Amino acid sequence: KDNLKSSAQRLGLGRSWVFQQDNDPKHTSKVVIEWLNQARIRVLEWPSQSPDLNPIENMWKMLKKQVHVRKPSNLTELHQFCQEEEP
Ligand SMILES: *[C@@H]1O[C@H](CO)[C@@H](O)[C@H](O)[C@H]1NC(C)=O
Repeated sequence: KDNLKSSAQRLGLGRSWVFQQDNDPKHTSKVVIEWLNQARIRVLEWPSQSPDLNPIENMWKMLKKQVHVRKPSNLTELHQFCQEEEP
């Protein structure tokens, strides 16, 4: 809600962009759907149970691996390691 439109603007996408997300429950909740409609954001239809082709998933996987080998022992360290790693 706070970042979507400003991110699109910073990326220079103009006005004709389509938002892509997977069908994670937090993305498909009633409150999110209503906000997307009200904010007039076009959302790419995404079939359920389909392979996730979103390139960001690769980045999450690499980040998880790199942080895991550093064995964070508490939340503070986990946060710090995530900030420091560059997948
Ligand atoms: C987190 O773990 C590190 C390393 O063991 C320690 O130095 C630090 O004090 C811990 N921080 C908290 C908030 O427990």
